[in-house]
This record gives sequence, structure tokens and C-alpha cells, in this order.
Amino acid sequence: MWSQDDHKLLEALNPDAVLFVGDLGNGEIRFIKEIQEIKIPTAVVLGNHDRGNDFSGYQLKSQIDFLGEKDCSWSRKIWSSPPVVIVGARPCSAGGGYYLSPQMRAVFGPVTLSESIRRIVDSSLDTPGDLPLIILAHSGPTGLGSNAHSLCGRDWKQPEIDWGDKDLELAIDKIKEARSVDLVVFGHMHHHLKRGKGVRNTFIMDEKRSIAYLNAASVPRKGVDVNDELISHFSWVEFNEGMLTHVSHRWFCPDASIAYQEDLYNLQ
Ligand SMILES: [Fe+2]
Repeated sequence: MWSQDDHKLLEALNPDAVLFVGDLGNGEIRFIKEIQEIKIPTAVVLGNHDRGNDFSGYQLKSQIDFLGEKDCSWSRKIWSSPPVVIVGARPCSAGGGYYLSPQMRAVFGPVTLSESIRRIVDSSLDTPGDLPLIILAHSGPTGLGSNAHSLCGRDWKQPEIDWGDKDLELAIDKIKEARSVDLVVFGHMHHHLKRGKGVRNTFIMDEKRSIAYLNAASVPRKGVDVNDELISHFSWVEFNEGMLTHVSHRWFCPDASIAYQEDLYNLQ
């Protein structure tokens, strides 16, 4: 849930851009309205919990319309400040290969797996090759492991399997034929595993393909520290001259100081 307190914290942090990986507010438009108020560059891909309860797609379409330019469903942003390309994947995914909910079909039509791949790949075409490319998705791609601890591994029932999105993996393969993909960031698969199985791996750097994968789904995003002070989670990414230089999970106090940081990657 995105609140006015989150808004104030974001303004204090003042990052160059903010990306939302979805599952924002169970289809309630008031959370989308808060996001619409953000003044820094913003890109959003909605999650499966944003699709709304009505099979007509009205709630989903309303959110997308309200987001306007900030929505990145099957589309892209080319920003000069910060200098980066954002390619949005299929919205409202629940993972598990490929499935379109009735709400998605109502809003976008009967989009097939191959059509979804085409839309993601097409969004990357003719983008400036000197800008880093970030793929923004709700669910991560298949191919990142088949254990419960994997970035997109199914943890809530046996067997433990790869629960990523097939269209996204195939799209990334295709995009890589033409240009670099620097970072794939997504949510959906909670960091804390079901049945007390511990914590998920949340970051992989594929050195061979030079792609970083980040699961940002720290749920709940808010908690308290040892002093009972409110803290809020953001995944934090830094680029320098087009190179990914830093990735971490950060928990911030309301005054924007860092309460706790888990480093995931630092360029040597
Ligand atoms: Fe989700």
C-alpha cells in the first residue's frame, strides 16, 4: 500500500527515479492517486493483486488510465534524466509460466504468450544502446532456479518449482540478441518463505550475460526496528556512466536515514 507517509519519505530520499513492481492496493484507486502525485520519473507495472475483483476489467482499466504516463505495461520509457531505458513486461502476472486473468483479457484482449513476447521485445527496439536498459515486471522470468529459495521459486506447496514468467525469459533472450539488458527488477514472490522455510535469494548477477536480476518483494514493506521505530523498505539501485554499480535492500527511518542495509552487489 502506498501512503502519504511513503510519499514524504520518497521526497526526502529524492532518488533520480522510482519503479513500482506492482501489488499496490488491491485495485483501490486511492493508492494509484497517491502514486500519480509523485514528481520524480516514475514507472509502474501493476501486479496480480491490482487487477480488481470485477471480471469486467473496469477497476484495472481505471488504474491504468489514472497512471497515464507512469504506466509501463508492455511499453517503455526512455529517460534522459536519469539516462536509462525502462521496458515494462506483462502486467498483473501471477507467475507460473503464462496465464491471463479475465480482467487482463477484458482490458488487453486474448494476448497469447508469443504476442506478449513480441510486445516486450518491440518495446526494446530502437532504444539508445548507450543507455542502460532495465526491464520492469511484476513476476520475474523463468530460468532463475527451481527451489523454494530461488528468486521466483514456488514456496507455498510441493513440489518446489520455477514459478517465473515464460514470456519474460524468452523476451529477454530475444532482446539480448540486439542490445544489452542490464537489470531485471520484479516483485510478487515474497522474500519470506511460507512454512518457516527462511528467506528467498533476492539477487543474481548473471556474469556471462551481464544481466542482474532483483526481486524487490519485501513483504510487508513496513515494520519496526529494535527501538520500535517505523522503518520502510526500498530496493536501491545505482548506475554510474551506464554501468550498474550498486544494488541493496534498504530500510529507512521516516527521516530518510538508513536503519538497515543489505548489500547485494557492488561493482569491484
Ligand atoms: Fe503478486
